[in-house]
Amino acid sequence: MSRVAGKVVVVTGAARGQGAAEAAALAREGATVIETDVIAPSWRLPDGVVHRRLDVTSERDWAELAAWLRDAHGHVDGLVNNAGVTWRARLGEVAVADWERVHRVNVTGALLGIQHLAPLMPPGSSIVNVGSAAGLTGHYPVAYTASKWALRGLSRAACTELGRAGIRVNTVHPGFIETPMTASAPPAFREAANAQTPLGRPGTVDEVAPLVVFLVSDEASYITGAEIPVDGGYTSHGGAKPISDALP
Ligand code: NAI
Repeated sequence: MSRVAGKVVVVTGAARGQGAAEAAALAREGATVIETDVIAPSWRLPDGVVHRRLDVTSERDWAELAAWLRDAHGHVDGLVNNAGVTWRARLGEVAVADWERVHRVNVTGALLGIQHLAPLMPPGSSIVNVGSAAGLTGHYPVAYTASKWALRGLSRAACTELGRAGIRVNTVHPGFIETPMTASAPPAFREAANAQTPLGRPGTVDEVAPLVVFLVSDEASYITGAEIPVDGGYTSHGGAKPISDALP
């Protein structure tokens, strides 16, 4: 398989969870993948995947990665801004320091990645931002939700500005996906999410990664500025599912 053969792709937060699955899927389809994270990879890196430590909130880390990419490859064709953190404090209790930390990873991290790597991207390159169903709804962890709405704004502005350079920018919005992040979710959150999901179950990392591969690939050459949920229908019904479920 070679849907992204010859492409050099950076994936952030790829030591585990969705990022690891995305990095592995891109490598299976022929990409050279730079798997980055603040922690060591929890999976065995196959041929075609190299690990580099990168804190998405660090301008210095991004500058060093860009310099390394310039020397090692001369260009980069894909950036998957996947790194993210949640913080489940509610509106009345969220501390400003936590609010800012979540935004720094989830929004500023993506901005820094785009700022540092877009200059190395030839026409036809692709940026994929990993948003969330939280960014399409009023999900209760307010710092996380606001950060994912902000990421949508960043994605749209980047799409507008980078189009003239031939760089595409799209956003995927996972619903409840089984990863270390959701392993810490309260049982009531999991149950309520399933109840509101037409497919009635959580998703897996391998149900998100194929969309990321597609958006990085040239198959998506005329798709930019799109926001695509991968959520079992969770964000589709606007509150209509309980009504549908309640009626014969
Ligand atoms: P995860 O917690 O398993 O993986 C997130 C990765 O990001 C971790 O490896 C972590 O070390 C890394 N990371 C955290 N801070 C970082 C930083 N400053 N610099 C670099 N890496 C950093 O979570 P998961 O589920 O794989 O999340 C991936 C993305 O998907 C995140 O953006 C998350 O917000 C989003 N998402 C997850 C959903 C889910 O249900 N699991 C639902 C919707 C969105």
